[in-house]
Amino acid sequence: MATLLDDDFESLQQRLLPESTYRVHGEARAGITLEPYSPVVGAKVRGLRINGTDVVPGEVRQFLNESLSRHGFLAFEPGTVSAADFAHLVQLFGHSEYMGTPYTPVAEESSNVNTIDSEVKKTRMNFIWHIDQAFRPEPPRFTVLFGKKVPSFGGDTLFCNAQAAYDLLDPLFAQYLETLYVAQDVETMGFLTLAYREEKELARQKARFPWIRTPLIRVHPETGKKQIYVNELYTQRILGLSRVASQNILGILFDLIKSPEVLTRFQWEEGSVLVWDNRVVQHRGVGDYGSGHRVLLRAVVE
Ligand code: SIN
Repeated sequence: MATLLDDDFESLQQRLLPESTYRVHGEARAGITLEPYSPVVGAKVRGLRINGTDVVPGEVRQFLNESLSRHGFLAFEPGTVSAADFAHLVQLFGHSEYMGTPYTPVAEESSNVNTIDSEVKKTRMNFIWHIDQAFRPEPPRFTVLFGKKVPSFGGDTLFCNAQAAYDLLDPLFAQYLETLYVAQDVETMGFLTLAYREEKELARQKARFPWIRTPLIRVHPETGKKQIYVNELYTQRILGLSRVASQNILGILFDLIKSPEVLTRFQWEEGSVLVWDNRVVQHRGVGDYGSGHRVLLRAVVE
C-alpha cells in the first residue's frame, strides 16, 4: 500500500530546476566567444573590440542580442570599449536616452548616459532588488553599465534569474499566481521622495508616474518564458487580496528571488561592461565598499 510519503515524495522536497536551465557550454561565433558566468544566469563575452568609428557586423549584433535573452546578462571583458565609446556599444542593443535623477546626473562622456557615482549618489535605492523601472507600463528592455571606477573591495552587482525563480514555484501555486495582478509604484520605497528634495519638482515627478497594474507573472515577448514580476523596490501590493495575504505572498516571492539556486554575483573590474535583459533578471548593487569610490556609467535601452 502506498504511504503518504510515497504519494507526496516530490512536493515534500526542495524543488530543483529543470536540467535545461543550466548553462555549461561555451560557444563562439563571428570571432566572439561566450562562456557561462554561472550555471543559471549570465555569460562572459570575449574577443569583441569596439571604438567609435567601427561598424559592428550584423552577425555580431544578432549573436549578442540572442545570447542576451538566453543568458539574462552579458559581461564584456575590460578593453572591449572605452568609457568615451561606451554609448557606441549601447547602440548594439537599441535606442537609449538619458534617464536619471539629480543624484544620477548626465555623464560627461555622452548625453544619453548617466552616472551612478558613490560620491554623488545619496540614495541607496540601487541596493534593493529590482527590475529597472517596473513602475512604467513598458519598462526598458535592457540596461547597460560600464565600470569606470571600482572600489578596492566590495561593490558587486547581484543578479537573479527571475525566470528560473518562476520554475522553483510549486506548480499549483504558480497557477494561482498567474491569475493575480499587482500595483507597481515608484514610491513604494520612497524612490522619488529621496531623489527630489525640491517640493514642486517632487510633485511634478510623482504626477509623471502614477501607480500601474501589471500581471504578477510576466511572459518574455521573444522567448515566451515566464518571469516573477514583483520586486522589493517597486511592487506595492497584490490587487484584490487583503494586506496580510498580499504581504505574505510577496514575502514568499521576494525570498525565492534571493535563492542561491537562481543567483550570481558579478565582480566589477575597471572597464568591464554589463548588459542585462530586464525581462529575464532582477538585480541590485551591494553596499559593502565603505567609503570606497565606485563610479558606473549607465544607459537604458527602450
Ligand atoms: C542599478 O541598479 O542600476 C545599479 C546596480 C549597482 O549599483 O550595482
